[in-house]
Amino acid sequence: MAFMKRHETLERHSLLLTVGILIVVAIGGLVEIAPLFYLDNTIEKVQGMRPYTPLELKGRNIYIREGCYVCHSQMVRPLRDEVERYGHYSLAAESMYDHPFQWGSKRTGPDLARVGGKYSDEWHLDHLTEPKSVVPESVMPPYAFLLTKKLRLDGIEDHLKTLRLAGVPYTDDMIANAKADLIAQASPGADYDTEDALVARYEAASGRKGTVKISDFDRNPATITEMDALIAYLQMTGTLVDFSTYEADDLNNRR
Ligand code: HEC
Repeated sequence: MAFMKRHETLERHSLLLTVGILIVVAIGGLVEIAPLFYLDNTIEKVQGMRPYTPLELKGRNIYIREGCYVCHSQMVRPLRDEVERYGHYSLAAESMYDHPFQWGSKRTGPDLARVGGKYSDEWHLDHLTEPKSVVPESVMPPYAFLLTKKLRLDGIEDHLKTLRLAGVPYTDDMIANAKADLIAQASPGADYDTEDALVARYEAASGRKGTVKISDFDRNPATITEMDALIAYLQMTGTLVDFSTYEADDLNNRR
């Protein structure tokens, strides 16, 4: 009863109650926030993630420049309808090398987090050139001009270096060979040694084979265009982690 009496005092004085609430909320906040300062990383490591190749990175820049994120998200939410349509829900680790991330919040078109490998390069080429040629009811704008725009290679080393400052593990080797790697990825058969070196470099970072796709993405071997870069990027999205073997490190697996 004495306790009830004291509680009544607290409830009757709004200022005292406010101070009481603040103390309780502060304790709750500390319990939630303080442990984060003692963790090195809040992202669970997943095998397969690697820095993007220079060509994929250039394609990603075009994706951002053209505002594809205005109509497309890149995050499969852990809801049944999404997982049935797009595949495994997105993991935090899958966007850990994204600066800036492309999760998006608007879906005029479908989510693109796992579009890699869903279609052929030719399909993307036709679709980006004239979306209605493959999806007659599409409201997506055409991006045919990317086919005639030669990809600018200057500054690619600096971009890799800058991303390294932000925590993306580009090696000295990757930076020194950025331009050669970029050309090799879009020019199959032109220089097998550089191709092998590119694949070895990025697969070593990935810990998985088969994550680097070499192709003449825009079917124009004479020039490396912005179309090459954009399709290279799209074909990589969502393919780095192998979900046929992936098991979440949840409580069930920790035993
Ligand atoms: C005005 C909105 C809009 C913009 C901007 C837009 N898209 Fe789309 N996109 C759509 C719509 C709607 C669809 C579904 C119909 C279709 O497939 O064309 C789509 C479909 C797609 C698909 C096929 C996805 C699938 O799983 O079938 C890809 C790939 C794609 N867009 C890439 C891009 C890229 C890359 C850009 C930027 C260069 C872009 N989109 C810009 C609206 C847009």
